[in-house]
Amino acid sequence: MQSGEIRNRFLTFFKKREHAIIPSASLVPENDPSVLFTTAGMQPLVPYLLGEPHPAGKRLANVQKCVRTQDIDEVGDATHDTFFEMLGNWSLGDYFKEETIKWSYEFLTSKEEGLGLDPSRLYITVFGGNDSVKEADEESKKNWMSQGISERRIYTMEGETNWWSPGDNGPSGPDTEMFYDVTEKGLGDLTKEEFMRADEEQKVVEIWNDVFMEYEKKGGKVTGKLKNKNVDTGAGLERLAMVMQGKDNIFETDLFKPLMNAIEMRAMSNGARAKRILADHVRTAVFMIGDGVLPSNTDRGYILRRLIRRAVRYVDVLGMKEGALAALSDVVVETYAGVYKNLSSEKVHIGQTIADESAKFRQTLERGMREFEKISASGISGKEAFALFSTYGFPFELTLELAAEQNITVNKKEFEEELQKHQALSRAGAEKKFKGGLSGHGEMETKYHTATHLLHQALRLVLGEHVIQKGSNITPERLRFDFSHPEKLTDEEKKKVEDIVNEEIARALPVSYEELPIEEARARGAIGAFGDKYGEMVKVYTIGNEKTGVFSAEFCGGPHVKNTSELGHFKITKEEAVAQGIRRIKAVLG
Ligand code: ALA
Repeated sequence: MQSGEIRNRFLTFFKKREHAIIPSASLVPENDPSVLFTTAGMQPLVPYLLGEPHPAGKRLANVQKCVRTQDIDEVGDATHDTFFEMLGNWSLGDYFKEETIKWSYEFLTSKEEGLGLDPSRLYITVFGGNDSVKEADEESKKNWMSQGISERRIYTMEGETNWWSPGDNGPSGPDTEMFYDVTEKGLGDLTKEEFMRADEEQKVVEIWNDVFMEYEKKGGKVTGKLKNKNVDTGAGLERLAMVMQGKDNIFETDLFKPLMNAIEMRAMSNGARAKRILADHVRTAVFMIGDGVLPSNTDRGYILRRLIRRAVRYVDVLGMKEGALAALSDVVVETYAGVYKNLSSEKVHIGQTIADESAKFRQTLERGMREFEKISASGISGKEAFALFSTYGFPFELTLELAAEQNITVNKKEFEEELQKHQALSRAGAEKKFKGGLSGHGEMETKYHTATHLLHQALRLVLGEHVIQKGSNITPERLRFDFSHPEKLTDEEKKKVEDIVNEEIARALPVSYEELPIEEARARGAIGAFGDKYGEMVKVYTIGNEKTGVFSAEFCGGPHVKNTSELGHFKITKEEAVAQGIRRIKAVLG
């Protein structure tokens, strides 16, 4: 069965069972700064799993584009990829375990309506209890048995194995997972240990996960029950295609075949794993660019850049001609054009973006390779690896890969230390520019400087005094503010912060400054990045005065508006993590 037919059958199956079919959301999450990419079908549905009513109803199903890069080191084996399509069905406080398990079983095994898979090749795992929820999921086990699955093929897993959540925060719950035997002869009954080994050896492959989301997680801990008992399921299309097409790896399915053939045709050397990694990375890059991501040095753009750069490396390893990547990207677009229309309209842009990024990388790669060869004879120190990274644009993992190929050691710890030092320096550099008045002095920038002070103080009021500025960047379009705080802000916290800033704007507070010796500024409780110098005169900007009450006093080079009433309406547009313990807010004035 071809992948198109699997998609259709899945949607038809759930439509018939009164599910509304919703479109795939973009790979770039719209209102969720906690993840860089959509990593599961449930991600765009988080507000509804938390209790908000969904406009399309309580039963939903779709095929969702997903990107997961945490398993990137496994890409190249039989079943891992960084882009995949997830088939999912959801119940938002409607049906629960009984129907979910019945329908999963029916879809997998029914010849008429589903995939017609062999039930004697199915294995099931269920939740066995963990620190948060002690009871094992007996109900799911019973439901599987009433579908005819033998108790010997149902394994109860303790701990986190059968507990699913999208991260440290959000809806979560116990899950039950379905595995399929992909060996030629069939494995028959397996003990738990044998089953776990078969999983490790990829003789059985997980094909579907049903999550019973009735709990909420905050800060990594289960904090209580959700408003509704929900269901969130996910089945990887590539893996289903693999078992339906009788293959033992996803790269031989119709989803990858045209691309693998194109690689095969162009490759001058063997290297099964290299070909698979190349295929995976090109495919993911195409989908990312199709959804508007561009290569850059931060966040999403950086992940895309790394994928393309790694792909360039494998083009070389396989002895392919320059320009191969753009040609391969066309093959991906053609394979998926019927399903994801945006890819065909973006085809030229996608190919061009990949070609430009490869060309850029090649310029530095050659120099970097020469440098690598010079220094690599007797092991690579962290400082040398860092120089390769900062001067030659060599991703650290590339240094590690090359070193591993040649049996050379790399001092990882020293590299990390250098990296941290460098990050601290570049932050200090940015601070200096900010304080030294090198940043823009236009009207909007001036407003954003003052808004930044209001934001800083509002964050301290809402979250606590541990909030300290870690960085700031202002353009005429927005402010960006980095600060110390251990976790993601809740919607309520963001709203409170916005409300406080807008109240202080509405109060039309005067803004003034005076120059003080740094010790005195500190003694008066002014906040801000003072640095370590003593005896220096610094400017302290104060928002409010004796009459109105002082809202904020902060050490800063300015410039600032004269009165907060000049600012307009303040709105947070983004809140995300930039590093361990450091959050970033972007905000606009309108
Ligand atoms: N959200 C669940 C998963 O990704 C279905 O496995």
